[in-house]
Amino acid sequence: MQIMGLQTAQPSLESCGASAHGSFLLLLLSLGWLLPSRAQAEDSRLGAMTPWLQGTSWDLSWQRPELTVFLSRDRRDTEKKVCPPERKAHAVDENLVLYEEWELEACVDGALLAAQMDLVNMLPFTYQQLGVFKRKLDEFYPQGYPESLIQHLGYFFLELTPADIHKWNVTSLETVKALLQVSKGQKRDGQVAALIARYAAGGGQLDKAALDTLATFSPTYLCFLSPEQLGTVQPSVLWAVRPQHLEACRPPQMHVLYPRAHAAFQNVSRSEYFAKIKPYLGGAPTEDLRALSRQKVNMDMATFKTLQTEAVLPLTIAEVQNLLGPNLVGLKAEEENSPVREWILRQRQDDLDSLGLGLHGGIPNGYLVMDLSFREALSGAARLLGPGPVLTAIPTLLLTLTPK
Ligand SMILES: *[C@@H]1O[C@H](CO)[C@@H](O)[C@H](O)[C@H]1NC(C)=O
Ligand SMILES: *[C@@H]1O[C@H](CO)[C@@H](O)[C@H](O)[C@H]1NC(C)=O
Repeated sequence: MQIMGLQTAQPSLESCGASAHGSFLLLLLSLGWLLPSRAQAEDSRLGAMTPWLQGTSWDLSWQRPELTVFLSRDRRDTEKKVCPPERKAHAVDENLVLYEEWELEACVDGALLAAQMDLVNMLPFTYQQLGVFKRKLDEFYPQGYPESLIQHLGYFFLELTPADIHKWNVTSLETVKALLQVSKGQKRDGQVAALIARYAAGGGQLDKAALDTLATFSPTYLCFLSPEQLGTVQPSVLWAVRPQHLEACRPPQMHVLYPRAHAAFQNVSRSEYFAKIKPYLGGAPTEDLRALSRQKVNMDMATFKTLQTEAVLPLTIAEVQNLLGPNLVGLKAEEENSPVREWILRQRQDDLDSLGLGLHGGIPNGYLVMDLSFREALSGAARLLGPGPVLTAIPTLLLTLTPK
């Protein structure tokens, strides 16, 4: 192939400066091998290209956001082929840019890519070529990339999936920050959440700069942060939260998020406030639920189910009635589930009956139960033993009152 002579005449990347990269690019352009093309535009690759292009000493008038590199090549051969000995890659350099995919597959190994990842990021490889590199690395590290490679991933991070990242161990804050930086504006929220999950799983703490960068991503990472870290996220993050972002959060996290959201949303109207605070109510205390009850917010049953049992238990029947409004009928379908079940156990059965919903399990008329937690345990036993008046079999637990 004639072009090979030209290519190998190019100085290697390590041995020359930026102007050589520029002239190499110019060579490719003049040969018509490298075309600025809108066709393959995808913003992520531009991010990878930019540092390389910026290293060139001449003006690229076509350097635009939609710039991408397109190398025409024959894509017919996909089956495994043996590497022709003279094509075996011993370094990541400009020559590889002109390799066809099958050649990269056959002639480049994962160890080389891992060792020279910085160079992978500096050369204008196509998405397809990067896809081959990712396959080679995945084969080489089936258990996940080692941290030594993760540190050098740079823009190659954008080629990875959240599932890849969930295999990692990440202990370096600098690495996290570098990968957040390359992910900015690249719609990699899932990858970023996975990265934060792995860093947090290793006990890593984020600093303010990292949290500020994180605030530019969709808050899918929120439930991976510790309660301490949640105490320092920017209010703008609280505003950006959608209900699904908090689904995985545990009570200690909700206890931190709720008061912060409550404070952040004070500048909006009541109805807008309720819409914003809804996803956070799993951290709300009883008195705040009472306030919502007074405002008759018509809470839906899906939200009611997220409330903490301890916060719901002290609510009176009238308070729950006002809180749920027309959604009160939903209690029947939830009577076996938390927090409805525990709440019912604390109500007088005749008061429950007055709701006309057919709720069962309240305190039998005429009895006062002294030890509520014991009664809850008993109710569990009653469920195991099947329907029946277990309570009446243990009269010593119950103190008879004067009938009303
Ligand atoms: C992550 O750490 C665990 C525990 O030290 C180890 O077993 C595992 O192989 C590590 N994974 C990677 C991809 O380094
Ligand atoms: C309330 O404050 C937040 C953050 O300061 C702001 O984004 C939002 O637009 C404000 N809303 C109103 C209705 O003032």
